[in-house]
Amino acid sequence: MLASLTEILNYADAKSCAIGSFNTTGMECVEAVIAAAEEANMPVILMHAQVHEEMGLCKLDHIGRVMLALADTAKVPVGVHLDHGTDLAYLKKALDLGFTSIMFDGSTLPYKENFALTSLAVEMAARYGADVEAEIGSMGERDAVDGNPESAYTDPDAAKLFAETTGIDALACSFGTVHGIYFKEPKLDFPRLEKIKSLVDIPLVMHGGSGVSDEDYRRVISLGIRKINYYTYMAKAGGSAVAAREDKTYFHDLAVEATAAMKANAAHAIEIFAGKQ
Ligand code: 13P
Repeated sequence: MLASLTEILNYADAKSCAIGSFNTTGMECVEAVIAAAEEANMPVILMHAQVHEEMGLCKLDHIGRVMLALADTAKVPVGVHLDHGTDLAYLKKALDLGFTSIMFDGSTLPYKENFALTSLAVEMAARYGADVEAEIGSMGERDAVDGNPESAYTDPDAAKLFAETTGIDALACSFGTVHGIYFKEPKLDFPRLEKIKSLVDIPLVMHGGSGVSDEDYRRVISLGIRKINYYTYMAKAGGSAVAAREDKTYFHDLAVEATAAMKANAAHAIEIFAGKQ
């Protein structure tokens, strides 16, 4: 069933666990993630990232409808979320489709501009009864140098002010994860996360979830992370399954193989985030 970000994150808070939040760049990802969540009997969040449409992967207007339809019929609560929206018109499109939450990403903007645009996103989402995630500090880009420069990490005092004054429902913070593949083991700034948690009263989100060790997942969850964004390693699992297949003649065979591998990868993440492993 379709669920709001707040409902899902309240559940995570009550259970002291985190909810897996997966980018779904195609129908296969949507099916894999929902099947994994149903098997684990855990809520889950499906996300469409604005950048994926810009990369030519799938249009919000198309995949958004698939995400909403399959969320609706799922046996577990499923949030449908717009990830890293950088312009308000695009966020509005997601809200018009019925997305239950949006992320406005003004993390590369100066504080004042990020604050002003995030506040507008909150105002707009409220008209749809939707929730808002926003970011302060900046996560590195895919394939960027390993680890974020510390100057880009979230400042705990700024995070407190930002969360209190914008009225957002969840805060993405930067403390050492990056999007995409890690070429060496990420080193997370746990004391910083602990400090942010002690000052910020809304659920915290970790982006760049792929490639973090199971031990570090458990630790960030114990320090208050309630939503973990995850994509690259699930997509890589799908790609590797296809690469390992001898007969690559038909797309439908490859799609079935990739879906099964992505489901297994998402299932592991969901179980770890749920504290079941
Ligand atoms: P990864 O692709 O590194 O798992 O990160 C996904 C993400 O943070 C999407 O917002």
